[in-house]
Amino acid sequence: MHTAELIDFKALVAEAKDILAGNWTGKFTKPAPNLYPHQWNWDAGFIAIGYSHYYMDRAESELRSLFSGQWDNGMVPQIIFNPEFDYNYFPSSDFWETWRSFSAPENKKTSGITMPPVHGFVLQHIYDNAKDKMRALNFVKEMFPKILKMHHYFYNHRDPFNEGLVYIRHPWESGTDNSPTWDAPMERITFDKIKIPPYKRKDLDNGHAEHRPTDYDYNRYIHLIDIYRKCDYNEEAILERCPFVIQDPLFNCILVKSNQALIELATLIDEDVEQLTKWNELSIKSMNEKLWNPKTGIYDAYDLHNDERIEMQASSGLIPVYAHIPNAEQAQQIVDRLLSKSFSGSADQNTYLCPSYNPTSPKFNPKKYWRGPVWINMNWMLHHGLKHYGFTDLAEQLKQESLELINHYGFYEYFDPIKDVVGKEKQGYGSHRFSWSAALCIDFLQDEEDD
Ligand code: SER
Repeated sequence: MHTAELIDFKALVAEAKDILAGNWTGKFTKPAPNLYPHQWNWDAGFIAIGYSHYYMDRAESELRSLFSGQWDNGMVPQIIFNPEFDYNYFPSSDFWETWRSFSAPENKKTSGITMPPVHGFVLQHIYDNAKDKMRALNFVKEMFPKILKMHHYFYNHRDPFNEGLVYIRHPWESGTDNSPTWDAPMERITFDKIKIPPYKRKDLDNGHAEHRPTDYDYNRYIHLIDIYRKCDYNEEAILERCPFVIQDPLFNCILVKSNQALIELATLIDEDVEQLTKWNELSIKSMNEKLWNPKTGIYDAYDLHNDERIEMQASSGLIPVYAHIPNAEQAQQIVDRLLSKSFSGSADQNTYLCPSYNPTSPKFNPKKYWRGPVWINMNWMLHHGLKHYGFTDLAEQLKQESLELINHYGFYEYFDPIKDVVGKEKQGYGSHRFSWSAALCIDFLQDEEDD
């Protein structure tokens, strides 16, 4: 494998910019050329971070376009549909029937679920990277109330016990769609197959079935959407009927990171931080009291529907270092876990950091979406988190291995974590020319220049 020294950083950044330019639609950037033709929620955030280093107009456009689809109740949808390509992706906008909701916008087509709320910390990156601070300050003033409104939505509509832990109600909301973490709750979803609304997958036209979620997964994804439609997107009704209601450590960690960013940005624009601070303290406390697992050195998920803990074997449980949620001792345990076989593999199964799922588990699949592959956004968050706690070498390793994978195999959506498999032709899977791999590569390399 190529060493870091052999990477031509300039050429890599040029290619990354070319990918973002190619996926630009005029208003926002598609996550990938064909597989994902619309605007996706957390993709838009990571993409904006990349642009903030060299093309502020576009960084701002990403957030503006995404929040143009914000619902009246504050929810920012997982997808803002691009009318030009509506039928190139399933579920298309009409399948969601969001017109049933009182909150959905009339002039924008959106899905009816959300995604990890990265936008608070994205706004902070935009401000920090801006050369023109006056302009950036105006943008902060414009976006702050919208992002705050989204946080209100989470704490008011997704935190039924006022624990400061918000729940997701669809695996797509986690961002880690088919992670084995969701297998048990998904298995419990029972429904009459005949009653699933008829549908045809489109993702397999542009993605390989071996690397994508299965039809079994999709039947359940669609069944859940059908429940929301039948509940007219009323959150209270959904909570009562939805069989998938889970507190995910990744989602909550990202919310905390964005709370913290908003608290810092608030001082620039004279906004009150009392509510944000209260939420944030409660979230951190509950993450540590309810989700932290001291025996395994990772944050677990919690299934509210069945009132039980889901023991975490996915990298999602390590990410809370990014929001500085663990104390120093917990952070050391997280590092030990990351360096154990359950993420770093064994002598005969040496891995690139960081597999999205425990490579020694029978559920691990190095090629299948969130069941094992390395994802650049997860490595980027882990890198920053570990750096904060002073694990400089490990943070550096995460960055270098991300860049090596991209440099050697291309700007793929995800990568096989198993090293040195003889005869392996390919190590990058999903879509090529994937936008957030490009955007975060730009940020990683910018970091290189700043260090
Ligand atoms: N990631 C999902 C997909 O594969 C949607 O958010 O289509």
